[in-house]
Amino acid sequence: MRSLLHKQALITGGGSGIGLAIARRLYLEGCSVTLLGRTESTLQRAQSLILSHPSHQPSHPPSHTSVSASASSRSSASNDPPASSPVSNAQDDNERTRVSYHPLNVTSASSWQSLLNSYTGDGDSKRIDILINCAGITQRSPLMKTPVEEVEELLDTNLRGTVLGCKFVGRAMLRNRSSSTASSTTSTSTSRSTATSTPKRGVEQEDKGRGVQEGVKEGVQEGVKEGVQDRGVIVNVASLLAQKGVIGTSVYAAAKAGVVGLTNSLAHEYGRSGIRVNAVLPGYIETDMTTGLKNPSILQQIPLGRFGTTDEVADAALFLIKNPYANNCVLNLDGGLSAV
Ligand SMILES: NC(=O)c1ccc[n+]([C@@H]2O[C@H](COP(=O)([O-])OP(=O)(O)OC[C@H]3O[C@@H](n4cnc5c(N)ncnc54)[C@H](OP(=O)(O)O)[C@@H]3O)[C@@H](O)[C@H]2O)c1
Repeated sequence: MRSLLHKQALITGGGSGIGLAIARRLYLEGCSVTLLGRTESTLQRAQSLILSHPSHQPSHPPSHTSVSASASSRSSASNDPPASSPVSNAQDDNERTRVSYHPLNVTSASSWQSLLNSYTGDGDSKRIDILINCAGITQRSPLMKTPVEEVEELLDTNLRGTVLGCKFVGRAMLRNRSSSTASSTTSTSTSRSTATSTPKRGVEQEDKGRGVQEGVKEGVQEGVKEGVQDRGVIVNVASLLAQKGVIGTSVYAAAKAGVVGLTNSLAHEYGRSGIRVNAVLPGYIETDMTTGLKNPSILQQIPLGRFGTTDEVADAALFLIKNPYANNCVLNLDGGLSAV
């Protein structure tokens, strides 16, 4: 069963590696995905790869009509899936609209703003249910030898970009009024029916001074039913290096530790408004980012003796998206390297 049917996801860094694997998994779950990254050719290629996946099963009409859908149709002319693809003709057209892309530099607030402008208005096509903050760049030099420009780029891409994504998309998610967010697919009918009676809290709360305990106490006293309305879910892709010191990764590690702090804080701040915020902390994963790193000395350090795969990270992201009680869930996925 495709439990993310009709959900809409934005994936930064969706053109390659971990982001692409997460996008493909969400697509296979029935989600409409919009891939975000700086390089249009990379995004086009990723779109074709997802659409040519042999196991996808076209079965429902399109729901996404954002600005990126036009980018999607542009690219479809030059990146047709292979002839062996099971998708064809009308079904093909429907499926294509479920995979779109939008060139975007995550460090640019104005780019985020203009992307989000295309999601203003009512209707399911204007919803954003899921945000995956996966764009990132790595560092392979000691701090003293890292030029200031590179320091700034590392912080901007890995931390500032994630902050901006959470800020702009979080605001859009707040407008999600129905209970059809990702987690509602596994919620009980009780939590759905109570959604509209839940008082404004969290980032919507006018009385910002009221604490958690007071809010809970008041809810119990007034007989308010439990639970907040589901409005969406954010998964931040941080890194094991947020928690483990490795030479030559200081600025990257600082940025990723910042992403974990951001996740902690927003799980509280946004969680009260029904937006869940989680993080996955991968160890060494086989992508372009780790090219050349797979050597015996590193492999020996990892208890499971191998690098992880992008599909394994996608599994973890899917868990964080689908589990309706996952909020501030910071999930290590490193073959046990965090224990060493
Ligand atoms: N591979 C690992 O072992 C590992 C371990 C822990 C954490 N991670 C994290 O996982 C995430 C994905 O990495 P990956 O391994 O999949 O590497 P990757 O294949 O190099 O993916 C990085 C993606 O980020 C995009 N990107 C970079 N800068 C961007 C910007 N300013 N704006 C928008 N998009 C940008 C890139 O696309 P463009 O260049 O086209 O923009 C690319 O698609 C990163 O956050 C990384 O830190 C990776």
